[in-house]
Amino acid sequence: MEKFVVHGPCRLHGTVNISGAKNAAVAILPATLLVNGKCHLENVPDISDIRAYLEILKSLGSKITYISKNEMIIDNTNIGSAIASYDLTSKFRASYYLLGSLLGRFDNVQISLPGGCNLGARPIDQHIKVLEKLGAEVKVMHGNVYAKRANKLKGVPIFLDVVSVGATINAILACTLADGITIIENVAKEPHVVDVANFLNSMGAKIKGAGTDVLKITGVESLKQNSSYMVIPDQIEAGTFMVAAVVTRGDVIINNCIPKHMEPITAKLIEAGATVVEDGSTIHVSMDKRPLPITVKTMPYPGFPTDMQPQMCILQVLASGSSMIVENIWESRFQYTDELSKMGANISAHGNTAVINGIDKLYGSPVTSHDLRAGAAMIIAGLVAEGYTDVYSIEHILRGYENIADKFNNLGANIQYIKEGN
Ligand code: UD1
Repeated sequence: MEKFVVHGPCRLHGTVNISGAKNAAVAILPATLLVNGKCHLENVPDISDIRAYLEILKSLGSKITYISKNEMIIDNTNIGSAIASYDLTSKFRASYYLLGSLLGRFDNVQISLPGGCNLGARPIDQHIKVLEKLGAEVKVMHGNVYAKRANKLKGVPIFLDVVSVGATINAILACTLADGITIIENVAKEPHVVDVANFLNSMGAKIKGAGTDVLKITGVESLKQNSSYMVIPDQIEAGTFMVAAVVTRGDVIINNCIPKHMEPITAKLIEAGATVVEDGSTIHVSMDKRPLPITVKTMPYPGFPTDMQPQMCILQVLASGSSMIVENIWESRFQYTDELSKMGANISAHGNTAVINGIDKLYGSPVTSHDLRAGAAMIIAGLVAEGYTDVYSIEHILRGYENIADKFNNLGANIQYIKEGN
């Protein structure tokens, strides 16, 4: 069993480099399947979700040549199969992007129902709706999703019922090589949605409106090969370090981030009393006092990201008064609050709302990472707590954070990676 042992309390200081965005990279990798040839990718995070995605691509016939652990050439000239195995695809959420990308090239596609973090119900009805509107036949049977098309997918007007990152990206993937023009309304505007569109446009796709509520995609015959693309920095990783800097009353420079993407998080940190100074692609975060209480309501971008909710909760736990979280995206994202209670936090969570009464100290305790971002929150809690915090189920954390312990240790933390047994 693997765990992190966090020895707190500490005050973070120094500079941290942010890695490439997980949620952009897990969409760009399947997007490469639309190219009958090679793509060169840089700033790909070295995390377990990406390693798993590269295994899926290899199983379909991709050839991967590594230039470094974050840079590679993916050659999709010899894709021989559009059936992705249960073992590989059922483990994580972003495997659903194979539906849109493989249907761009093949008539019959099969994947397993996607897994990923347990945040409550995670329907894919909007993904299916998009593919059906474009002319595909989609069936969900025995844990698999089967999609087939008799002819090329055909552009039509589509209105999404809910703002969904995944359905928006799947629509972009499916429409890139479709016949005609697709207009999709009520789409997600997250930075990683824009990054996928930029990646495809850099190879000759015609996707307009990424980052707004309406996308216009004019299908093209094929995409150019031998393109080169750099994945954007990870908004959530940067936000995680920003919150950690504030709760440890630290002084940290966050390097290689896009301050514009950080605005909903930056605004809340300033409201809590932190000093945040942006300069080009860096953000300097410092704090010298107990945080003020704040209310957080999660919303699609440019609202406050749900994936920062557990990390921001640590700030609220330590605030000088009562704070509130309203979770508007996922129905059960508060499981981690029980873990924080073991450390002394005073949180009462019901339905989609949590009320947090601030305390001035947390105490080290064994805690579990219920999911990726909850795991990051456990590490932040350990950084401020008195004594040792053993963070278990860290496989969730390693899915999405590159070298997280080393990055925190370089800022003055004391986190040990321990593998027990065997
Ligand atoms: C992505 C992110 C995840 C983040 C989430 C919200 C990836 C790989 N994952 O997940 O980290 O928490 O965005 O920012 O990028 N919905 C439906 N029907 C659908 C699809 C979604 O009702 O077909 C609902 C969901 O239940 C949820 C909301 O729409 O309430 C948003 O989900 P969505 O944006 O699709 O999340 P994911 O793409 O799965």
